[in-house]
Amino acid sequence: MTRLAINVDHVATVRQARLGAEPDPVTAAAIAELAGAQGIVVHLREDRRHIQDRDVEVLKRTVKTRLNLEMAATREIVQIALKLVPDMVTLVPEKRQELTTEGGLDVIVHEDALAGVIKLFHEADMAVSLFINADPKQIKTAHRLHADFVELHTGTFAEAKTFTARQDEFERLVDAAKLTKKLGMGVHAGHGVDYRNILWLREIEEIEEFSIGHAVIARAVLVGLDQAVREMIALINK
Ligand code: PXP
Repeated sequence: MTRLAINVDHVATVRQARLGAEPDPVTAAAIAELAGAQGIVVHLREDRRHIQDRDVEVLKRTVKTRLNLEMAATREIVQIALKLVPDMVTLVPEKRQELTTEGGLDVIVHEDALAGVIKLFHEADMAVSLFINADPKQIKTAHRLHADFVELHTGTFAEAKTFTARQDEFERLVDAAKLTKKLGMGVHAGHGVDYRNILWLREIEEIEEFSIGHAVIARAVLVGLDQAVREMIALINK
């Protein structure tokens, strides 16, 4: 069975809009697990725009499936990961101005720096995933770096404007997934996966796990709104 890991960053985004305590991404993670999600993902960004250090600390103690810490390989965040020891880390590129992760990590350009960081994570018993574009050169470098998993960036596929462009990107993902598996690494995929394009992506048998945030949290807001309004109407009217 293909696994689903839920990214709960957006729950923290709503909480941070009021700098309060709710909604709590820790509660959201528990609900996702009760619904059958096989993993929980959070991105501790350098600017702490959504997930806070406290969230990762509490999730480390409460997640029953697998906690995947998405992170940039910066000194501060690497130290936090080494202290908290999540089940796995996914290394991503990070820019302060971006709305969300833009593109995969260039593991060729950063090979030397990444080699040291990956060694530290492996020594601390954490699995390492590299979020990269569906490019054979990047995948071969990930293999040389002893990555346990490659997370294929599905954003370009998800955002393709025409059917032909989407088909081209899909083929690229198929080839990338096959190469990743052939090299002995686990295949994850994520970014922009939604309730429509999953019908394509689920056909790629090599993909073991999808990491999905936006589409699921966005849907939860809408499908949950009916009940939330009814509950408030009931309270207003005693
Ligand atoms: N995988 C990675 C590496 C990401 O950076 C993100 C976005 O935080 C996701 C998956 C989830 O993407 P989305 O929110 O579009 O489902």
